[in-house]
Amino acid sequence: MLAERDIDPDDISTNPSGGRSFDEIVQSRLSRRNVLVGGMAVAAGFLTTGIVRATPAATDAPRAGENGSIPAKGPKKPKGSLLGYAAIPLSFDDEVHVPPGYTARAFIPWGTPILGDYPAFEPGRNTAAEQEQQTGEHHDGMHYFPLQRGDGGSRHGLLVVNHEAADEGLVQTGAFWTEEEAEEALANYTPEMVRKSQAAHGVSVVEVELGPSGQWQVVRSGLNRRITANTPMSFSGPVAGHPLVRTDTDPTGVRPLGTVNNCSHGFTPWDTYLTCEENFNGYFRVEEGDYSEEQQALIARYGVGGDRNNWATTDDRFVVTPDDPNEPNRFGWVVEIDPFDPHSTPVKRTALGRVKHEGAYVHVSKGDRVVVYTGDDQVNEHMYKFVSAGSWRSMRDDRSPLDEGTLYVARYNDDGSGEWLPLIHGTGPLTEENGFADQGEVLVKTRLAASCLEATRMDRPEWATVDETTGMVYLTLTNNTSEEKVVNNVNPRKPNVDGHIIRWEEADGDHAATTFTWDLFLIAGDGRTSGDGSTIPDDAAFGSPDGLWADYDGRVWIQTDGTQPGEANDQMLAADPSVRDERGAPAIKRFLTGVRGCEVTGVITTPDQRTMFANIQHPGDGGRPSAWPQIDNILTPRSATVVITKDDGGVIGT
Ligand code: FEO
Ligand code: CA
Ligand code: CA
Repeated sequence: MLAERDIDPDDISTNPSGGRSFDEIVQSRLSRRNVLVGGMAVAAGFLTTGIVRATPAATDAPRAGENGSIPAKGPKKPKGSLLGYAAIPLSFDDEVHVPPGYTARAFIPWGTPILGDYPAFEPGRNTAAEQEQQTGEHHDGMHYFPLQRGDGGSRHGLLVVNHEAADEGLVQTGAFWTEEEAEEALANYTPEMVRKSQAAHGVSVVEVELGPSGQWQVVRSGLNRRITANTPMSFSGPVAGHPLVRTDTDPTGVRPLGTVNNCSHGFTPWDTYLTCEENFNGYFRVEEGDYSEEQQALIARYGVGGDRNNWATTDDRFVVTPDDPNEPNRFGWVVEIDPFDPHSTPVKRTALGRVKHEGAYVHVSKGDRVVVYTGDDQVNEHMYKFVSAGSWRSMRDDRSPLDEGTLYVARYNDDGSGEWLPLIHGTGPLTEENGFADQGEVLVKTRLAASCLEATRMDRPEWATVDETTGMVYLTLTNNTSEEKVVNNVNPRKPNVDGHIIRWEEADGDHAATTFTWDLFLIAGDGRTSGDGSTIPDDAAFGSPDGLWADYDGRVWIQTDGTQPGEANDQMLAADPSVRDERGAPAIKRFLTGVRGCEVTGVITTPDQRTMFANIQHPGDGGRPSAWPQIDNILTPRSATVVITKDDGGVIGT
């Protein structure tokens, strides 16, 4: 998501604590031979055999949203291998490739008019007001909400898409800037330029339908909406009104403005969308001055500063001073949006904690309690889950299940067991003497609280997903090459250049449980970067897993953001956990390859699984020239959704 991958701030540790110290490396049960197999790992056998699909979470309710965003019958596993397509090779060119028998087509690229006057995209020449009526940049997490019941729901719905970031050169001039050009521009920023950049961030809600020609199209609809860094929002939960979120412009601390760096996402059984604020820290400029110890600790641990998009040049809200230091505390939340009400106010759900949220996967557990899994994407940070106090079915307008419950942080023990440690004020070290005067402080300082509990430091926790056919939770750990990395069995390599995927089973299949059993699902790599030298099947090699989604059949879709084998383009693969080779590795096949300089992120299908939407983010990034998707002869690289269909009309992945 950054212009220069090699200086990704996610790779810089701001967690100085030892966490649960695994510095003394327990003799790993992973030998190099059984870790690095075919570009992926075999599971190390931490769990007893039979982990795969052994314990369908029968007591956990399948999700069936009011509007049917999940197939109403709930998950059902098809017989045989889930991966029916022919794996495709790595790619280096500027096209999106999918297997034979499939078609991929770019859809709603950055700048697509969806509102108001429907202003046409003109690279670098649209005004801020026009950008507010067009889709934003850097498409990321995404969900499809059906608008009709039954089969029609798979042909007509709302596509809700995050816009994680914006490249200033592209937004302001339609072309990447050299360092000199960026410096020159910085000296001449205007409020209009800042507002335009802010409008390229946020979320788009777009009504879409399968047209008579068989192609998906945008509907000019009253439901279409842009949410940006300037959209009025509210706080709910323990932090609403808290002194740590009060600012000069909002002295009551209840009316935050806007959302930024919307990375991954979630969706609820009551058909709302959750957008996650990830690297919010980078949009601020921190003025020199006399900050309190508490202010210094928050700035340091969350890495606040950098003014990455030059907003602080003209927008004082993004200038942090000792007298008005709290605006950064108003970001780093999970934001709930009702896509079916374009006039609704997005709500920052503070009970879910304040971290660099990568995603917020919602699973309905026993008693219809909602469990939200959310990673904190930075080297050596932690993995969290929130468990609602009661059933979501008893929710009322003024009382959300996302406001009342317990936030936990994970500790992964080396013996394959794990514990969820509650972040509750007054419990253990989370007391006033340690800087946590109330639950609001625990949540604003989530990272600091997690360190007090000696949670496990991880290799950049990105997306989590639950395979609803088995109840198994999967989590991508994208990579970690930091000096401060701690080696333990759940993060077994140092440096971890290529990343890995872990999974766990909650005790008794109850996702509200406070203990679990984990194992390694895949270790990414290609033999070159991992130094193993094994023969690598080309159709399974990948690095830096990031996006992750277990579809309604249990295919685990894996998307990448980082260095790939042979410096190939980023990609999407699917794994079938139910099929194992003789070494115990799950079946995995490459399904899609992206264009030059992009990451592949965000994936969902229609309920009938016959249309897949996946996002291509930041084509042309990192000095790899791209002109994708070249719609209407526009050569400016544009993030876009890709619509994937099977030529025979079948289920995606078969
Ligand atoms: Fe936005 Fe962690 O990727
Ligand atoms: Ca990501
Ligand atoms: Ca990433």
